[in-house]
Amino acid sequence: MCGITGYVGHKNAGPILIEGLKRLEYRGYDSSGVGVIDLSTGHIIVRKTKGKIRNLEELIQQQNLPVSRIGISHTRWATHGAPNHVNSHPHADSAKKFLVVHNGIIENYEVLREELQHQGSVFVSETDTEVIPHLIASLYQGDFLDAVRQAIVRLQGSFAIGVLCADHPDTLIAARVGSPLIIGVGKEENFIASDVPAILDRTKRIIYLNDGEIARLTCDNVEIMKFSGAAVRPKIHTVKFSVDAVKKQGFAHFMLKEIHEQPEVLERILKSYLKQEEVNFPELNLSPGQLKGFERIGIIACGTAYHAGLVGKYAIEQLAGIPVFVDAASEFRYRDPILDEKTLLIAISQSGETADTLAAGREAQARGAKVIAVCNVVGSSLVRESHGVIYTHAGPEIGVASTKAYVAQVAVMFLLALKLSRNSGRTVPAQRESIIAQLRQAPAAYKKILAAKNQIAQIARKNSHFGCFLFLGRHINYPTALEGALKLKEISYIPAEGYAAGEMKHGPIALIDEYRAVVCVAPQSEIYEKMISNMQEIRARKGKIIAVATQGDAAIKKHSSHVIYIPATHNILTPLLTVLPLQMLAYFIAVQLGCDVDQPRNLAKSVTVE
Ligand code: AGP
Repeated sequence: MCGITGYVGHKNAGPILIEGLKRLEYRGYDSSGVGVIDLSTGHIIVRKTKGKIRNLEELIQQQNLPVSRIGISHTRWATHGAPNHVNSHPHADSAKKFLVVHNGIIENYEVLREELQHQGSVFVSETDTEVIPHLIASLYQGDFLDAVRQAIVRLQGSFAIGVLCADHPDTLIAARVGSPLIIGVGKEENFIASDVPAILDRTKRIIYLNDGEIARLTCDNVEIMKFSGAAVRPKIHTVKFSVDAVKKQGFAHFMLKEIHEQPEVLERILKSYLKQEEVNFPELNLSPGQLKGFERIGIIACGTAYHAGLVGKYAIEQLAGIPVFVDAASEFRYRDPILDEKTLLIAISQSGETADTLAAGREAQARGAKVIAVCNVVGSSLVRESHGVIYTHAGPEIGVASTKAYVAQVAVMFLLALKLSRNSGRTVPAQRESIIAQLRQAPAAYKKILAAKNQIAQIARKNSHFGCFLFLGRHINYPTALEGALKLKEISYIPAEGYAAGEMKHGPIALIDEYRAVVCVAPQSEIYEKMISNMQEIRARKGKIIAVATQGDAAIKKHSSHVIYIPATHNILTPLLTVLPLQMLAYFIAVQLGCDVDQPRNLAKSVTVE
């Protein structure tokens, strides 16, 4: 969602701020803006506009952005008020002394707005954010930090903010509650940003601001304190990945690049967690005794991560015999869940900043459960709030449609199931060894499927005219069907429904005729024959079938218009492979339809508000 960058140093702030925004484009936005303190006049100057960052650049070409040494910038994903230039950030107080960028939602903004209007503040936008500069201005008596501190304790909701004050042209203030914000520590320059990619080409030294902390940045100092004023000694992390990781490197889209990175992601995960055929999660923070003691497992997540959780349920129950429930985090947090210290709660999130997943994790901890994060982002809120973590090691994922992060999450779920299975008596060592041996083959299997790129692109071209897609799968590939449908609808905007194939006759079969395409995930498995029966029912109603099947299954051709093969693997591991053709299909269909693959409309990479 909204992206923030901020700069204080000796260089011209404007170009740095715009460059930072470009690196945050993946978060999803509908307008953008930048504000600086003019080096020669000391005045606050703002340029903002609707639409893409290139619109902002065009505006700056026409209206010039003065040379400055300090500034803040923002990409807005509209919540309160339409995406137009008035509602875009930064926002100022009536006297244009304070300037604010904000990510999050101020829940009590109406009360504050009324109060401030009575005091004479004149509001120009429909946003919740605008109360912040007015509130700071109303509390300001010469001490910038103090005014911000007094203001933020009156805000309810979630926020990450960057604030400038014309009276203090050397100081940038930032604070957070519930929305992500990092500080980049440079040489005689410092930065704030919503995420690391924004500043990766400037510095790799990062401080992750915690909830309830406020930071004062000058060009040569970063000072962090609690809202109460108590000083905090910050931990500076050095980011390992290079700036290349957040560039397209010759691929047409980030999504395509990330799809191609999946073999190496799998290799990295296996290398990190499989030691002499034993699974070891070094940051799990649970002793073998503790791990044995859990009587059930809950998995909470959103979107694609939720689908990975569903695969986890099948794998853990089958291999380890531990009951597992999987909830969408947004449902879990309000459903009064029954949990205790015998429940292990696994929160899966690529970003580690998804508002519902964070809230669900807090709810679970409050009810006595231990929370383990399965997360891709080091230092994210979820990781910091959880008892332990299993990193998914997928590297930065920029495409809004999650691909490599999902595959990494699924791989981790299998490893977790294998680890838990050791004490269960449900598997014998030979079975585990066989699954591990097949897991080790997964990167090579991925390369084989990727080599069928042209065939999948051709299938996509031939079928992109269908106005509706149904994705069917059974058992452990039911989540694959859900994920395939989500990918397609996210990036191509074609209505797509994922369904358990066994449920087809209970409703979705009504959709089927010659105008619908049905993607059937039908690899080798115990329920293969049942899947074939479903396919026959679809054919009988003239539905067009695209099947994903196991290499060597020639028979499936007679039931399908197209078949995409995956290499043979252990039945339980098939979801790791079957999802790849579906990712590629969605990608090529979206490209064929001319859609904005990496930044689909209305979507945000990380959903940091509820
Ligand atoms: C996936 O393609 C999505 N864009 C979305 O469903 C995503 O998986 C979801 O918002 C959860 O995000 P997280 O993994 O960062 O928590």
